[in-house]
Amino acid sequence: MKCLLIYFTGTYNTRYVSRKLKSRLEEVGWQVNLYEIDPLNNGRLNLSEYDIIGLGYPIHGYCAPWAFLRFIRAQKFPEGMKTFIYKNSGETERANDASSKYVLRKLRWDGAVMNNEYHFLMPYNIHFRFDDNLVKEMLVMNDRLLDILVYELCHGISNRKPYGIWPRIVSSVVSRPQYIGGDVNSFFYRVDDKCTGCNLCVKNCPTKNIRRDADGKLRFGHHCLMCMRCSFYCPADAIHIGFLEQWGWKVNGGYDFRKIEAIELDHPVITPDTKGFFHCYIDTYEKINKRHKELFGD
Ligand SMILES: Cc1cc2nc3c(=O)[nH]c(=O)nc-3n(C[C@H](O)[C@H](O)[C@H](O)COP(=O)(O)O)c2cc1C
Ligand code: SF4
Ligand code: SF4
Repeated sequence: MKCLLIYFTGTYNTRYVSRKLKSRLEEVGWQVNLYEIDPLNNGRLNLSEYDIIGLGYPIHGYCAPWAFLRFIRAQKFPEGMKTFIYKNSGETERANDASSKYVLRKLRWDGAVMNNEYHFLMPYNIHFRFDDNLVKEMLVMNDRLLDILVYELCHGISNRKPYGIWPRIVSSVVSRPQYIGGDVNSFFYRVDDKCTGCNLCVKNCPTKNIRRDADGKLRFGHHCLMCMRCSFYCPADAIHIGFLEQWGWKVNGGYDFRKIEAIELDHPVITPDTKGFFHCYIDTYEKINKRHKELFGD
């Protein structure tokens, strides 16, 4: 099978998942190409040379990010083309289920087929930082979900559940303001005195929204995707992210996945007694384990 994985990533969690997926599909003999969306280039890809296309994105406010949706809408999916979705986010809220609603509408419009959709859990790049031990457990569970994904795709087994009315409503209500929210919020982005002038944020911003003016100061334009790449990776933690920061939602410093992968966990982090924010993981993990057992016996 010749497969193309098209994905958008802000702080590289989706890139991480996409690379894992690529190597797992290659292990079963597929030929896999990766295409990371550049929000400044919405040109059409030649999709007809592939047998199947995977679409990956981080969930932003219960929706697919605008940059992802815009790119997908600019494509022409060949009639009957097989596609699948692999999205990721920090929580399992049912409201996230319908985040692909508009993507699905576009695929249907073109006559493409989407029978498989998978939700990977990856640590937040906004709101609060996840503990490394928990992230390790998430990566282990994602490996199990990848087992399921690869098996089901290879055996033509569909895996889709209806989105439900409530997730659809939430996703629709949040998507409209969110898609202009980044542009509005970037009026309030600023850099403080801790800035060392390394220019990493200028180089890495996917929309070239950050510039250094003649007076040496960094300024933000109004083409912000709220992807968090600039503030997340600023080595001096000097970037302030507008109203999101008023709510204490900034996370600074990338997750070191290589180091996290090497952690040896001697006890489960999520247990049936887990309470609070991560309580919702219990059900998700039970479902992954149940399906894994059905397919592989463990
Ligand atoms: C603007 C914004 C909105 C987000 N909204 C959600 C959300 O609604 N639900 C959720 O579980 N995670 C949410 N997240 C967290 C990301 O989905 C998660 O950290 C993801 O793994 C980031 O992937 P990336 O590194 O490829 O950008 C949001 C992140 C950002 C930046
Ligand atoms: S990444 Fe941070 S330290 Fe580097 S130029 Fe940007 S704001 Fe300054
Ligand atoms: S300004 Fe920052 S948050 Fe906005 S698009 Fe650029 S890197 Fe992403």
